[in-house]
Amino acid sequence: MKIEGKDYKTIWFENDCVKIIDQTKLPHKFIIKDLKTVKDAINSIKLMEVRGAPLIGATAAYGIVLAILESNDQTFLKKSAEGLINSRPTAINLKWAIDRMMKKLSGINSDKILEIALSEAKKICEEDINFCKNIGLHGLKIIEEIYNKKKKPVNILTHCNAGWLATINWGTATSPIYHAHKKGIPIHVWVDETRPRNQGANLTSYELNEEEIKNTIIADNTGGILMNRGEVDMCIVGTDRTLANGDVCNKVGTYLKALAAKDNNIPFYVALPSSTIDWETKSSKDIPIEKRNSDELSKIEGLDENGNIIKVQIYPKKSKSVNLAFDITPAKYVTKLITEKGICEASENGLKKLFK
Ligand code: MRU
Repeated sequence: MKIEGKDYKTIWFENDCVKIIDQTKLPHKFIIKDLKTVKDAINSIKLMEVRGAPLIGATAAYGIVLAILESNDQTFLKKSAEGLINSRPTAINLKWAIDRMMKKLSGINSDKILEIALSEAKKICEEDINFCKNIGLHGLKIIEEIYNKKKKPVNILTHCNAGWLATINWGTATSPIYHAHKKGIPIHVWVDETRPRNQGANLTSYELNEEEIKNTIIADNTGGILMNRGEVDMCIVGTDRTLANGDVCNKVGTYLKALAAKDNNIPFYVALPSSTIDWETKSSKDIPIEKRNSDELSKIEGLDENGNIIKVQIYPKKSKSVNLAFDITPAKYVTKLITEKGICEASENGLKKLFK
């Protein structure tokens, strides 16, 4: 997708380096950063320079490539894989990507190991692009249907950033929006600010602006009144991990939007590639929910009048705060899942029909 009219992907490999867009600096500064070691990849995931379930999976895959470039020692490779998996606990794509890489590399000690790892990491990225594109084509039908009935701009509410910046290209929740826009369907997106890291305001709004899609940032608590007033036609969000039973783990605040949508009879869709399905965990209670540093709540970042990015304290220094990064939306509140293979019920039956 585009930034200042130029096409970008979120991650690529060049001159023995992994190139990423440092998302902690967006929307104020566009900086491409080099990751040269597996430690760089781990830190980049931890610090959220890269974030979003599919993108952290891809970064972890390239992290394995960097580990091989650093050393041909198998113990180092295993330790690197563990470090990458543990860098963020909730998004299942991380484990999915590492398991896939390690399976591909198991038993290979030859000089070919680097070539095989690099080719697999690239394949993971290419696959994600195709998955996201197909999510868009399936989701487009839903938007088209609403537009054909309404004949007015379709108002879509989204939470967090499940855009192309969270994937390799297209995004999950945004892919149907981009496809609808390309088809000439008028769209307006309500962008949840998404405290505390403000992925909606800083990233979703930014990428929609760059693609010239109308959008309005709202405080996280505004969705309810907008739904109540008939100003939302549908909600689409992404997910960090969806269980086989259809329960959806996503950025904290998703659950409250789903409840409001249910109460107002507004369809609530979750867009995801199959790499985000956790087929093993049986109960959402067993999903590890990331608890991040309280500083993310008590300090806020922005531009000062000289154009420098600064952080300021916004709470009483003595106050305690807790920063859970994700929540669970039970399957019963999810209208449908939009996957690369089609649209299905948020249930084991629904998912198994698509993914045999
Ligand atoms: O903490 P983040 O920014 O990594 O959280 C991202 C989300 O919650 C996204 O909605 C999710 O990963 C879906 S990405 C296509």
